[in-house]
Amino acid sequence: MNLFQFFLLFVCIFSLHSCRVHKIKSAETGIISRTLQKVKPGDTILLSPGIYEDSFVITKPNITITGGTSTNLEVHIFSRVEPTIMIASENVVLDHLLISQLGGGTVFTVYIVGSGAEINTCDLSSNGIACVGIRNTSKVRLHSNRIHDCGQAGIKIFEQTGNDILIEGNEITKSKHGLVVREKGKATIRQNLIVRNTESGIFVHTFSSAVIDGNVIIENGKNGVVVSASSKCKIKKNVISNNTNIGIYVYDNGHVKIKNNTIETSIQDAISISKNSFCHLGKNQIKGVVTNYSNWGNRLKIPIIVTLIVLCISFFWVFYFFIN
Ligand SMILES: *[C@@H]1O[C@H](CO)[C@@H](O)[C@H](O)[C@H]1NC(C)=O
Ligand SMILES: *[C@@H]1O[C@H](CO)[C@@H](O)[C@H](O)[C@H]1NC(C)=O
Ligand SMILES: *[C@@H]1O[C@H](CO)[C@@H](O)[C@H](O)[C@H]1NC(C)=O
Ligand SMILES: *[C@@H]1O[C@H](CO)[C@@H](O)[C@H](O)[C@H]1NC(C)=O
Ligand SMILES: *[C@@H]1O[C@H](CO)[C@@H](O)[C@H](O)[C@H]1NC(C)=O
Repeated sequence: MNLFQFFLLFVCIFSLHSCRVHKIKSAETGIISRTLQKVKPGDTILLSPGIYEDSFVITKPNITITGGTSTNLEVHIFSRVEPTIMIASENVVLDHLLISQLGGGTVFTVYIVGSGAEINTCDLSSNGIACVGIRNTSKVRLHSNRIHDCGQAGIKIFEQTGNDILIEGNEITKSKHGLVVREKGKATIRQNLIVRNTESGIFVHTFSSAVIDGNVIIENGKNGVVVSASSKCKIKKNVISNNTNIGIYVYDNGHVKIKNNTIETSIQDAISISKNSFCHLGKNQIKGVVTNYSNWGNRLKIPIIVTLIVLCISFFWVFYFFIN
């Protein structure tokens, strides 16, 4: 029994819920799915090194699936159909696993629709549309993972997520976009290395918002960060460098605060703000051009002018009634 198993046992004995560790000794096809039918909330599935072909939905709460503690991930779970893993319950943890999706199509490698999910120290890749899909849920944390070669996006956060989606300390590389936050998605994206995706590092659009804090966003094939379609971002303390086109590109009613970043680009603008968008620029280290076509100032003036005109007309009406 290694230290980690001992720790699990210790936690089980002293927790109020009776929980068990199910140790899987050999990597048979479908063994995880079969074990999931037997587990109770609070249980852990501990997988021995090996290659597991499986595809499953986790519907029970408080389940942990782990490959142990070894730093070179020795447990590989893959699927040729559907998402490899779908999380549809609360408080599920995936830890020290190498997970891939080989089938292609519009599927995720890990698809999270239940709240309280955590993915730690995993390696994720996909032949589908994205490695991780986080949809209409809350309390999700992705920490210290390597997320690579995922198709359209490394991580896609979409449809009305809560305020507590945290993407932290991951390496996100070699997909079309590193992260996509869309359709009222919300996320905190902190201290990740977002490098060499073929289009943008981070793309936030369609009524979404993000706090982008302390990331290194470099060498992406088009732009570093893109904010558009009525979305808002706070962009602070990042290094946004050597992306092929624009460092930070804001358009179509995008709204950003940019503070304390290091931004440099050689080919196009460091920051580009289009006509209907707004940017508050704090202290940054910028090498390159800042283009500001924003007409936000004028948009603010129009309501003020209208209000003044209405006030004047009202005043004259009142005045007119008085003198009559
Ligand atoms: C799951 O864990 C949470 C918090 O750790 C606890 O409040 C809840 O009762 C657990 N649910 C089950 C079904 O074990
Ligand atoms: C998200 O989930 C909530 C509650 O489960 C539901 O009311 C809402 O319609 C969902 N939103 C979307 C965009 O699916
Ligand atoms: C950007 O590229 C230049 C030239 O290759 C290199 O010197 C510099 O260190 C790079 N910057 C970052 C932050 O990687
Ligand atoms: C900018 O970030 C650096 C490094 O994190 C920090 O030391 C510094 O105080 C910050 N400056 C401002 C103005 O926030
Ligand atoms: C861009 O221009 C708008 C409107 O003129 C102004 O309100 C805003 O402060 C400017 N932003 C920057 C970063 O220069």
